[in-house]
Parts: sequence; structure tokens; C-alpha cells
Amino acid sequence: MNFHRPRRNRQNEVIRSMVRESHLSPDHLIAPLFVVEGKGAVIPINSMPGQARFSIDELVREAKELYGLGVRCVALFPAIDEKLKTPDAREAYNRDGLNARAIRAVKEALPGMMVMGDIALDPYSSDGHDGLVDPKTGEILNDPTLEVLAKQALCAAEAGADILGPSDMMDGRVGVLRRALDESRFQNTLIMSYTAKYASGYYGPFREALDSAPKRGDKKTYQMDPANSTEALREAQLDADEGADILMVKPGLPYLDIIYRLKEMSTLPIAAYNVSGEYAMVKAAAQNGWIDHDKVVLETLTCFRRAGADVILTYFAKDAARLLRT
Ligand code: PBG
Repeated sequence: MNFHRPRRNRQNEVIRSMVRESHLSPDHLIAPLFVVEGKGAVIPINSMPGQARFSIDELVREAKELYGLGVRCVALFPAIDEKLKTPDAREAYNRDGLNARAIRAVKEALPGMMVMGDIALDPYSSDGHDGLVDPKTGEILNDPTLEVLAKQALCAAEAGADILGPSDMMDGRVGVLRRALDESRFQNTLIMSYTAKYASGYYGPFREALDSAPKRGDKKTYQMDPANSTEALREAQLDADEGADILMVKPGLPYLDIIYRLKEMSTLPIAAYNVSGEYAMVKAAAQNGWIDHDKVVLETLTCFRRAGADVILTYFAKDAARLLRT
């Protein structure tokens, strides 16, 4: 009789741990954090229970807590005052602006914490788009945007950002950023490209947090069509050729197949962004008592690792780091 019993390998935690294929630790996690002006401010975000907009002093406190839990990278997203938003998004490269000050403050307090700066114009643009908008036609202008992104990247790098995350989806931006960085002593600044970033409904809570939703139209002429996956391979090839260090897929959970395909085809590390809407869904269901929060958080993050993600950007970073500790 040839009777296979796969259950033998599952009979107790010792054997299960021994044969486990994927592992989750805080080493792989990046915590996105929102920043606002002010002092002592921790402003909750309605649609993201447990997340807040932090003034810089509170941001530093939060970063220290994360660091103590083993999370060694934060991605900063500034909520810019409406009055500073302009069509040319020039606040994006203000050396004394909120974003530059926040990066500097975290690096000063915690030199060992890697800080990632987002590169895209939407938080600074009065149009709420990631690129410059032609006022007549409404077109999102590719090449003129690249020049602003390069200035934004240098500003973040000068402030001390270790990693830059171009999330704008303009064509050719990775190459333009790489060249600008290399020409200005920032050869070691990493680029984690938002390689396959989809035009997704899952960004809703994030746009509420930053008040950054597009004033007109949508982002479908630059972010990818959720129906496509071969196109993601094309984006990955281009980003790799242009010098990206890490390729990111975003959103995360509904796009595990994309993570898997990129991991198969690329020699670069792959990151997944477990976005705001994915976070909101889990928190909402858990608050209703419909799912077990802790179980679902660890399962979700483990599944990203199983799909091929080396790195996970997640608002669950602190929750997960705490759970992994016990
Ligand atoms: C914008 C940006 C977005 C997110 C990160 N950078 C939103 C968007 O493209 O509209 C979303 C992150 C999230 O939903 O958690 N460049």
C-alpha cells in the first residue's frame, strides 16, 4: 500500500517549525508613518484605526518605539497644509519643508533607522496628482514632472533619506533619479521603485490621511490597469535597467500573483505594499468581532513572504513586531 500521510509533518509545533518554508520577522517590515506640522500632535485617521498623523516630536517617539521592537525602516508621508499646495508642487523640494525636517529629525534621533522618502507630487500638488497637470488639457505631463521629481529626490537625500520610493509611475523616473543622485554624492542612496503600482480603490484611506485625492479625474493614465500582469514584467525590466535596487508591487494582497511573477523573473529583491485599504478592511472586521485580528495580521504578512516578497511595507508593522516578540 502506498498511503501517503502529509499530516505526519504537521503533528506538532516542533515538526511544523522544522519544515516551515517562509519566515516572518521585523527585519522585513517597513512602517509607513504620516507626519503633520505642530507639537505634541497625534491626530487619529478615521479610516485607519491605530494610525495617526504625528507632529515631528511624536513621529520621533513613534520611530523609537518601532526601533525598540525591531522595525528598522520607516517610510514618511507628510500631510501638507492646503495653503502650500501649488500647481507646480514646489513645496516638494523645500529644504525647510515638513518632509525634509521630519527626515532629519528621525535620522538625528535614530541614525540606525533607515528612512524612506516618497517621491511623487500628490501631497504637494493643488491638483492632487502625482505629476504636473497641463491646465488646458488636464493631461499629466511626463517629462516636465521628471525634473521636479529629481529636485524632490535630492532634497530628501540631502535631508538624510536612505531610500527613495518613486511612487509616481511616470515613465523613465528611476533613471532620472539615479543619475541625479549619482551626480550629487548620493551613490549609496537606494531606490525602491513602485514598479507595479495599480490604479486602485484600496488607496482611499491614505488619501483621506493626506487629503491628497485628485481634484479632477483619476490616476489611470499613469497607474496600471488592475487587469494586467504581463505589463508589470515590462515595468520591472525597465526599472531594473534604469538602476532600481528593489522593485515594489502595490497594492499587496489582491496582487500576490504579481509579486510571484516579479520574484520569478527578477534578480532584484521584491517589496510588497500592504496598503491603507487592506489595513482598514482587517481593522474594521476585527472591530466587529468578525475575524481574529492577531491571527489575520500574521497570516497576511506571512503570505506576502510566501508569495515572494522580501520586504513588506505595512501599517501593521508595530502590531506584527509586538506579536512576533511574544
Ligand atoms: C501617492 C501614494 C499613494 C500611496 C502611496 N503613495 C496614493 C495614491 O497613489 O493615490 C498609497 C498608500 C496606501 O494606500 O497605503 N504617490
